[in-house]
Amino acid sequence: MNRIISRQTATLAGLAAVALGLALAAGAALASDNTPLYSTAVGKATYATYCSSCHGVDLRGKGEIAATLASKPTDLTRLAIENEGVFPVERLMKTVDGRDDVAAHGSREMPVWGELFLWPESDTPERRAQVERKIGELVAYIRQAQEPAAKN
Ligand code: HEC
Repeated sequence: MNRIISRQTATLAGLAAVALGLALAAGAALASDNTPLYSTAVGKATYATYCSSCHGVDLRGKGEIAATLASKPTDLTRLAIENEGVFPVERLMKTVDGRDDVAAHGSREMPVWGELFLWPESDTPERRAQVERKIGELVAYIRQAQEPAAKN
């Protein structure tokens, strides 16, 4: 009996160690430029909710309401190609958090996605961290969807 319990305990401890290891790997992982690596799966879900109606499920700018817009949504798989092969992280982040205006995205006061990504200059550190992660995930997803020729 004791042997069984201790074997189960050992197994559980082993599983806990593996889970912790995975959590640490996910939490502590950094890209080569020292920015945190974000979940592209979460970014994909965020994209589906807030961007795909215009930019399309495949990011190529042909979402279901694209035709009704005055300007054509940008093909988000070609951001790197259009930027001499370098994925424009900074510009993309500014586009999403409202520091760079895109007419079709609405004004900084009234963006199409509400306040979700708006950079909260005067808000709490928790809120800032939350916005940073949301944008980081979205950018990670769009980055890995770049046309292969320009992946970097
Ligand atoms: C209401 C439709 C709509 C939604 C929703 C939308 N976009 Fe756009 N987006 C556009 C249009 C239209 C353009 C092209 C604007 C132009 O050429 O002036 C654009 C342009 C862009 C650009 C290019 C900006 C540049 O520097 O050239 C990026 C990046 C972008 N969108 C990302 C996103 C992301 C990420 C989301 C979701 C968080 C999103 N968009 C949601 C319509 C939309």
